[in-house]
Amino acid sequence: SLPEEVTVYEVGPRDGLQNEKATVPTQVKVEFVRRLAAAGLGTIETTSFVDPRWVPQLADAEELLGLLGDEGRGARRPVLVPNVRGLDRALAAGVGAVAVFGSATETFARKNLNRGLEESVAMFAPVVERARAEGLWVRAYVSMCFGDPWEGPVPVAQVVDVCRRLMDLGCDQLSLGDTIGVGTVGHVHRLLEALAAVGIGPERVGVHFHDTYGQALANTLAALRDGVTVVDASTGGLGGCPYARSATGNLATEDLVWALEGAGVRTGLRLDALVETSRWMAERLDRPSPSRVVRALAGG
Ligand code: HMG
Ligand code: MG
Repeated sequence: SLPEEVTVYEVGPRDGLQNEKATVPTQVKVEFVRRLAAAGLGTIETTSFVDPRWVPQLADAEELLGLLGDEGRGARRPVLVPNVRGLDRALAAGVGAVAVFGSATETFARKNLNRGLEESVAMFAPVVERARAEGLWVRAYVSMCFGDPWEGPVPVAQVVDVCRRLMDLGCDQLSLGDTIGVGTVGHVHRLLEALAAVGIGPERVGVHFHDTYGQALANTLAALRDGVTVVDASTGGLGGCPYARSATGNLATEDLVWALEGAGVRTGLRLDALVETSRWMAERLDRPSPSRVVRALAGG
């Protein structure tokens, strides 16, 4: 059965905008975050404190948080940080929550972090330790949990091993990234089962599906049936990782809300406000949203 309530973890401003060709003006990002909050989104990942040469789209992280003020602070406005340098910047900007982002595969760790698996865990360890000492909420992403464009299918045991190592650092929540959208429902079930078997139960796990193969919603519902209650989604279905070949947008927040409303699961979100926000953002980006729910409800 499905849970009574689901927490939507909105990644549009971060995952959504990190992959845009055009640079989105900081003022538009501010309004995006405000509109998302007004639509009922409690948790919003606002940006990344990564090397701006790697992700120029989010090079305005300090400016964005400065303009957001209290609206960008607290335990429910996480930002991505890869290393101590990123954490320093995030702390100076006044954040209350951070996310480190590891990889289940060696190849993607090198492509995305310029580090092997071992080295990247070693890079995160002092970040998590210090973030916790500062009282921050800490999330651990693991990318390529289902398949990797260079390595192919990724064995469940290998994913579990990386997840366990990151959670052992002391993270509050794990997010299982299907970076290139190749996961399917049986695979989702097997991974959640294997995580539970090593003591990482669904109450500490979020799911992060990209919709490349149109499976993001089905996979999400499968995870909810296995006890997960935190779902990553991106308003308008924007998103993708610039360092992952063949990554497309995240599960659209509207697709998720449409499905959950129909199933009687509470999200606290206003679908009309989300659709209006997507329509507004599509105008800013000058192209339609990839989400069919958005297109249907926004009237083409
Ligand atoms: P590196 O080049 O190995 O870094 O990159 P370094 O430690 O050798 O430092 C080199 C220079 O970068 C130094 O400057 C540092 O100060 C600077 P220099 O002394 O040469 O002038 N630097 C920084 N500057 C600002 N902020 C920082 C920072 N760190 C170093 N934080 C690094 C290593 C990890 C930094 C780089 O690879 C990087 O920034 N990677 C980020 C890639 C990224 O953001 N990818 C997208 C997010 S992950 C994703 O989308 C997946 C997810 O959605 C889940 C899923 O879908 O699977 C989360
Ligand atoms: Mg992603």
